[in-house]
Amino acid sequence: MSAAAVSSRLPVFPWDKLEPYKATAAAHPDGIVDLSVGTPVDPVPELIRRALVEAADSPGYPTVWGTVALRDALTGWVERRLGARGVTHRHVLPVVGSKELVAWLPTQLGLGPGDRVAYPRLAYPTYEVGARLCGAEPVVYDDPTELDPAGLRLLWLNSPSNPTGRVLSQDELTRIVAWARRHGVLVFSDECYLELGWEADPVSVLHPEVCGGTYDGLVAVHSLSKRSNLAGYRAAFLAGDPAVLGELLQIRKHGGMMTPAPVQAATVAALGDDRHVQEQRERYSARRTALRAALEAHGFRVDHSEASLYLWSRRDEPCWDTVAHLAELGILVAPGDFYGVAGERHVRVALTATDERIDAAVKRLG
Ligand SMILES: Cc1ncc(COP(=O)(O)O)c(C=O)c1O
Repeated sequence: MSAAAVSSRLPVFPWDKLEPYKATAAAHPDGIVDLSVGTPVDPVPELIRRALVEAADSPGYPTVWGTVALRDALTGWVERRLGARGVTHRHVLPVVGSKELVAWLPTQLGLGPGDRVAYPRLAYPTYEVGARLCGAEPVVYDDPTELDPAGLRLLWLNSPSNPTGRVLSQDELTRIVAWARRHGVLVFSDECYLELGWEADPVSVLHPEVCGGTYDGLVAVHSLSKRSNLAGYRAAFLAGDPAVLGELLQIRKHGGMMTPAPVQAATVAALGDDRHVQEQRERYSARRTALRAALEAHGFRVDHSEASLYLWSRRDEPCWDTVAHLAELGILVAPGDFYGVAGERHVRVALTATDERIDAAVKRLG
């Protein structure tokens, strides 16, 4: 099989379609306000940079499972922040940013043709990519408990959601986990926005009230990209079922999927500190309040968005008309159909711009 045969299974990379609108927005006399990609723009906290630099002299190979200090930091954070109990080193596994994990997990689980991988109807596009890379069938859901469990090998949850900012309640999570266990479906819960709840307090699938204190068939995915402004470091990890993580560890060792040693050290520092997370939350909260008010005054409706880094917004028109309208104001947003056809009348407005750029957007919407 040629390489082209693999890439032809994948959806067209959608961001290229946004280029003409980016050019329009960039022509604004006061410059573009780019709220399209959710990439952090605030500085990496000093204590994390220091840890990275102090570990710069790392000539040897790092391990896939990570240093003992890293595993201690992961288990400690999972217990402290997620409320999980009895979390040992066997319950955690570092990954090289969560996107690579999302894209390659179905392959690493040995899934392929005849298997099904399910994810929310409106979702981060990489869940579909992961299914397609291994030849499994991608399936979307509104409520996962309404899925036909036949052949369903992997169920992705994403709460808080990208792009909608919707949060699954503890009761919903409990019901979904019970259903998945009843049908022997492995659950991966992408919780990378867990620290960014505004009008909701997101709960992990590893919380004892949800999982009943055992991690069978459950893995939570966490990333430091958003909570600690570390998207450039590629720092993320898994926590949950030791049988699943043990298998992934073996495969990832053979595949050389190691987090660089300085990044491991930086992750230890980042997970040991809550203050920078709180400071970053406050920045996003202020931006969110200003931007939401300006969008609503401009005639937008904001749906869900009780958590995460996005305002899921609409003006009762096709999303590309909204993209074009905002581009004329020098504001670039992501069209909702990037996340599934159900998003065709929404746009996703990211909070990841500097205070100065958010102020500019607010003025232009006024
Ligand atoms: C839902 C979701 N999962 C995973 C990721 C990947 O994050 P990272 O690879 O930086 O850990 C993103 C990034 O935007 C996301 O929105």
